[in-house]
Amino acid sequence: MDKIIVKGGNTLSGEVKISSAKNSVLPIIAASILSGDKCIIENAPMLEDVFVISDVLRSVSADIDIDKNSNKVIIDTSDICDCEPCSELVKKLRASFLIMGPMISRFGKFRISLPGGCNIGTRPIELHLKGLNALGAEVSVGHGYVEARARKLIGNKIYLDFPSVGATENIMMAAVMAQGETVIENAAEEPEIEDLAEFLNSMGANVTGAGTDTIRIVGVKKLKGTVHKPIYDRIEAGTFMVAAAITRSKIKIVGINEDHMKPIIAKLTEMGVSIEVQGQSLVVDGTGVLKPIDIKTMPYPGFPTDMQAQMMGLLSLVKGTSIITETIFENRFMHAPEMKRMGANIKIDGRSAIIEGADRLTGCEVKSTDLRAGAALILCGLSAVGSTEVTDVYHIDRGYVNIERKLQGLGANIYRKCI
Ligand code: UD1
Repeated sequence: MDKIIVKGGNTLSGEVKISSAKNSVLPIIAASILSGDKCIIENAPMLEDVFVISDVLRSVSADIDIDKNSNKVIIDTSDICDCEPCSELVKKLRASFLIMGPMISRFGKFRISLPGGCNIGTRPIELHLKGLNALGAEVSVGHGYVEARARKLIGNKIYLDFPSVGATENIMMAAVMAQGETVIENAAEEPEIEDLAEFLNSMGANVTGAGTDTIRIVGVKKLKGTVHKPIYDRIEAGTFMVAAAITRSKIKIVGINEDHMKPIIAKLTEMGVSIEVQGQSLVVDGTGVLKPIDIKTMPYPGFPTDMQAQMMGLLSLVKGTSIITETIFENRFMHAPEMKRMGANIKIDGRSAIIEGADRLTGCEVKSTDLRAGAALILCGLSAVGSTEVTDVYHIDRGYVNIERKLQGLGANIYRKCI
């Protein structure tokens, strides 16, 4: 298992290029099932999660060609003949569930093994299933599997109890070829949902309102193949913004959409980080005096849970008391004990973390407990005294393209040790 070694203390400079959003590409690959024609995703991020969801589709006989040189994913789902993906692959990646909507829409059935719990919470899928059921699918859960069948899907009004990203996406994908109109109320508003709607519309679907809390989908008979370039990864960009702040450096981040970055820009600005938007780039200057802040994670456009761990690392080094409240996932403070090993003063009280800024962190061996936790520990390592060894790097590889090479390009002393 690889380790990432960071020798702290270097100031960063220069610019870094942001990849396309993992959380856009995964539902888009799933959505390509909807058409039997070829779909091409350009500028796709070459990430472990993208490889796994591609294998999930291959396990039902889709033909997927991933060109790592041109960052293209070419998907041909014309030969899909099976509606039960390999359960070992499904268990590897929770986002495999995004194939439920497309499968029931195109083939009128699927059988998929249930997800287990994951590190950051139990992550149930009842909202996905309620939505599919409201469209006319008969859904049953038993023996560790979800099974669904539908002779015909019919549009309906669906109010989500919680604006779940995955449930919104699954229902949208199931509804695009249903008869009549579907309205999803209290829908998730994340930019990746808008991107999925753009992809579906370019296939011939009729989706409006994505990016707001009410999405309307008028069913069409058939969808065609398309070519799509996904949006930039706002969480990767946010991670590099924190890298600048935690090392008290000034860097340029190339490849952002200002609107998508607003919740992160607002919080870093409140702390005293200076941020200048230059078109599709950000110049982030963390050389000023930084102040403690309070953060509450919320569904978009609130502060993203996927940036919570990175902010905790940064606030661990900002004099004064900060409070982070995690409202999205019930168990997303697994990075706190690892940060404490590095000298951070963090107390967990239920869903809140109280952080007393320390003068310094010290390098040691720490374990990446999930994707964003791992990235946050690398950030802590960048400013820690001495050497930090981050283990269980496979979590980080799920969602960051060449994180150590991108940080090296900014002047960080970081490398990967293959064991
Ligand atoms: C997506 C993102 C993930 C991000 C999360 C929240 C992808 C591939 N992943 O995950 O990076 O952290 O949004 O922004 O896009 N819930 C239920 N019942 C359901 C569905 C969800 O209770 O049927 C709960 C979950 O347990 C969780 C909360 O809703 O506590 C948010 O989950 P959701 O928005 O569905 O996240 P994901 O789509 O899994």
